[in-house]
Amino acid sequence: MPSSDPQPSPFVDGELERAETLPAAWYFDESIQRRETTHIFHRTWQLVAKQSDLPSPGSYFTVELVGEPLLLTRDGSGALHGFYNVCRHRAGPVAVGCGTRKALQCAYHGWIYALDGRLMSAREMDGVERFDLKDFGLVPIQVAEWGPLIFVNLDPSAPAFADEFADIIREVAEKGFDLGRMAPVERRDYDIACNWKVYVDNYLEGYHIPIVHPGLFQELDYDQYEVVTYRRHSKQYAPVRKASGETAAERPYGRYVDGDASSTAEALYYWIFPNLMLNIYPDNISTNVILPTALDRTLTIFEWFANPEATVDDMQATIDFSDEIQQEDIFICELVQKGLGSKSYDRGRYSVKRENGVHHFHQLMVEALYSDD
Ligand code: FES
Ligand SMILES: [Fe+2]
Repeated sequence: MPSSDPQPSPFVDGELERAETLPAAWYFDESIQRRETTHIFHRTWQLVAKQSDLPSPGSYFTVELVGEPLLLTRDGSGALHGFYNVCRHRAGPVAVGCGTRKALQCAYHGWIYALDGRLMSAREMDGVERFDLKDFGLVPIQVAEWGPLIFVNLDPSAPAFADEFADIIREVAEKGFDLGRMAPVERRDYDIACNWKVYVDNYLEGYHIPIVHPGLFQELDYDQYEVVTYRRHSKQYAPVRKASGETAAERPYGRYVDGDASSTAEALYYWIFPNLMLNIYPDNISTNVILPTALDRTLTIFEWFANPEATVDDMQATIDFSDEIQQEDIFICELVQKGLGSKSYDRGRYSVKRENGVHHFHQLMVEALYSDD
């Protein structure tokens, strides 16, 4: 039953057979949400932009990450930089929207910053004591690029992206996927009336597929469906069912089974703590970013990228099928949020066979919120 008291660290038993799910109050509590912001979203690598948002030297792009206004730039040499989009004068926006500039002028009183963050000029500040332009550059954040994707990390002491994502980057390269050839195709935003963890919980298990997703159930070999957990990410194995009767081309995932059994084995589905899903196919990838906008409100951003071999029709079929599954997930997640708010419910149990991924996520949540300050 939800309460407004700050939540003590709950015990999520490491043994799946014995464990109970996170307390329902974790999906309603403001103190938990504040801790999630500072301990998780401000400390982990977050996908916030794509290469095409910053295509050339002089490009800038603004974005908000759980309430923090951020600014990405490419300087004259094309090097990527990230900053808080907060002027050192009185916190005005250094840039609005996106575009291309030689320098950035704050929209409030017009201080001018170079694209690498240095403060170049500050109008009418003569006579101000202890004021040196070089002390008032923009506050930087960590940035990283991987294929068409751009990540930031607000924690200056966080491990480098290349280290944190090392296993995934290596595996994707070893399987022959070339993210560098993927160009954006479409973005769809979905606003969902549930806590962000309800959506992540739901993504991390295939247990609901036969009930919630009859269309997807037809496509997958459910018996083979499996979630394998690693330190801070998990991988889903969801083999596509072999075509029977109808031709593979008539099925949403048909082109991945059409005559080439090995291609199905190559699809990779990653969930990366806390809120990123990467779905990687031979000719396209899609990213899902799950962001809390309120305690009971979640924005999910889906983006598709394809290599030149993917046809428009193939991509449209992929996107349409994903949308159908997403609508089914939204329907169930919004009802689960209501259920979690019932005074009749506090904690549940996990299916050992099907919900190890949810258990893994819940353990990581407790660890991230309570292992240190
Ligand atoms: S707030 Fe930026 S110049 Fe004043
Ligand atoms: Fe689902």
